[in-house]
Amino acid sequence: MLLQVENVYKSYSKSCGIIKKEKLQVLKGVSFKLHRSECLGIIGESGSGKSTLGRLIIGVEKPDNGNIFINNTNINSSRGKSIKKDVSVVFQDYFSSVNPRFKIIDIISEPIRVYEKLSKKDTTLKIINLLERVGLSKKFLSRYPHELSGGQLQRVCIARAIATKPKFIVLDEAISSLDVSIQVQILDLLKELKNDIDISYIFITHDLTAVTYICDRVIFFHDGNIVEQVDNIEDLKNVKNDYSKNLLQAATQMNVREAIYENQRVS
Ligand SMILES: Nc1ncnc2c1ncn2[C@@H]1O[C@H](COP(=O)(O)OP(=O)(O)O)[C@@H](O)[C@H]1O
Ligand SMILES: [Mg+2]
Repeated sequence: MLLQVENVYKSYSKSCGIIKKEKLQVLKGVSFKLHRSECLGIIGESGSGKSTLGRLIIGVEKPDNGNIFINNTNINSSRGKSIKKDVSVVFQDYFSSVNPRFKIIDIISEPIRVYEKLSKKDTTLKIINLLERVGLSKKFLSRYPHELSGGQLQRVCIARAIATKPKFIVLDEAISSLDVSIQVQILDLLKELKNDIDISYIFITHDLTAVTYICDRVIFFHDGNIVEQVDNIEDLKNVKNDYSKNLLQAATQMNVREAIYENQRVS
């Protein structure tokens, strides 16, 4: 088992008026596991706490209660620092997750410099290899983020995420800002990488269609809690919880609508 999330709680304080502060309970006892070489989908509506959960898993925030283990090591223990290398993250907003003043070569070399002691030449070779892995060529090395399309820049972010050979990647709405045709290309790239290198994904999204395309298992997330877990994607249509049913119904209706639009465009 790669990741174990055990009864995790997280709250934020929100100001109400000048002095009074109230607690906003965002995560309310979340438990689940991630296995090797699997893609686990976490689906839920906006504000349900998915990104908060993602931040706890990558270790940039700590839970109020509960534990998170990566390879059986508690990430918030003294030994936890050493396993941070095992997890990477790709966010929705690719432009703000890179430094606009950095060239692509410097963006991808950042994590390599932290975790590996390579010569300049070897670092460059490694980056060229990573670029090719994500479907880009070495001509991108000296370009700046604003010279790339959204899809290309998200490929750079994926290259940076796999640079340190993590065991898994948290993909937080990683395709949500892209056009639908580009979304499919990025999903295909993620699938290809999963086959080539031994890696798992936590695929956080509000889009059930993308889940069916890439995930092996799905967790339905609602109001800081897991309301349903589907262990085989084929069983998705048999969900029992009302909230999951509604999501499924909305997604089906949307697909039908998209298909109608598509037909109209063709004819
Ligand atoms: N750093 C923070 N401080 C205060 N409230 C926060 C913070 N981060 C998230 N929240 C609140 O927690 C709730 C869940 O947010 P989030 O985890 O981003 O949900 P999701 O990713 O599912 O849309 C929201 O109500 C949001 O406003
Ligand atoms: Mg979010």
